[in-house]
Amino acid sequence: MRVLVSGGAGYIGSVTAARLLARGWSVEILDDLSTGHVAAVPPGAVLHRGRLEDRDLLARVFARPFDGVVHFAARSLVAQSQARPLDYWRDNLGAAVALLERLVAGGAARCVFSSSAAVYGEPPSVPIPEDAPLAPVNTYGRTKLAMEQILADAARAHGLAAVALRYFNAAGADGQRGEHHEPETHLIPRLLRSLLDQAVEFQIFGDDYPTPDGTCVRDYVHVADLAEAHALALEWADRPGFTPLNLGGGRGWSVREVLDAVARATGRALAPAVAARRPGDPARLVASNERARQLLGWRPAHSDLPQIVADAWAWHRAHPSGYGD
Ligand SMILES: NC(=O)c1ccc[n+]([C@@H]2O[C@H](COP(=O)([O-])OP(=O)(O)OC[C@H]3O[C@@H](n4cnc5c(N)ncnc54)[C@H](O)[C@@H]3O)[C@@H](O)[C@H]2O)c1
Repeated sequence: MRVLVSGGAGYIGSVTAARLLARGWSVEILDDLSTGHVAAVPPGAVLHRGRLEDRDLLARVFARPFDGVVHFAARSLVAQSQARPLDYWRDNLGAAVALLERLVAGGAARCVFSSSAAVYGEPPSVPIPEDAPLAPVNTYGRTKLAMEQILADAARAHGLAAVALRYFNAAGADGQRGEHHEPETHLIPRLLRSLLDQAVEFQIFGDDYPTPDGTCVRDYVHVADLAEAHALALEWADRPGFTPLNLGGGRGWSVREVLDAVARATGRALAPAVAARRPGDPARLVASNERARQLLGWRPAHSDLPQIVADAWAWHRAHPSGYGD
């Protein structure tokens, strides 16, 4: 298969690109390096540096059609999306529409899209199935939901085979590739970085949630499992339609359980301060992953929390300054 990976210099995109190459597929990456890293691009992938919204660049990249596209490139900081919503609507939708126009014009049939558990907002119950109410509580989640709707329209009108993968909390590292965001807002890398660099603060946001230990419960899914799901989804998507699939380990872990796992993996004692809840943080987000298991034959084989933390810690210790750029 010949695949274009938008955002393939980023965290999940680079691990996925490496996974697709390992299948013997041909991989090209389009990335503006706004949050990605050249060093994350796997050897063997062609890197086109630039923005998806650059129509001349897209025309050159699509000079030879692709069999499929995996679309990771997006702005994805929740707090920033609340402060600068128009940037998110312009860039997340603009990039997706530009890419889909090219894809449809070139006759390419398959598109696998990075969606998010953020489309569910505050779910009425867990585990969350794909047909739960879609009620995002922030601009980031609303742009993800809008992109899903655009994909569904393109599938209906233009015969696209589209799969939206709704990731829960991506985490862990895969050998040479790990998580390096600036700023880092995700729990596990932020916690690990606070152990390596005193300047990085770590706080628990709220310990008065209606959960067993009062802290928020999240579903962590190993980045290697996410990468495998993308390869499976590209293979599976061989007929027109739109299919949303949850990707989560299917089990919830509280912030305090994550702290315990980190203390065990690192041998360091942790006693972070407790701050107020952040607005819009649901108490519990846990995926039902049955549909991905059934349709794709996907298994979250690496998504046990101790393994996620051990792999992330190995990467952060080997890369204390991330990718160093
Ligand atoms: N990390 C998570 O836990 C998580 C959870 C749910 C969904 N997602 C989604 O998965 C995707 C990947 O997440 P990530 O953590 O790997 O993010 P990332 O920031 O590491 O990667 C995104 C990549 O896209 C590139 N990019 C962004 N806008 C672009 C544009 N307009 N043109 C070209 N390149 C552009 C960036 O340079 C970066 O390399 C995102 O769409 C994100 O919203 C992530």
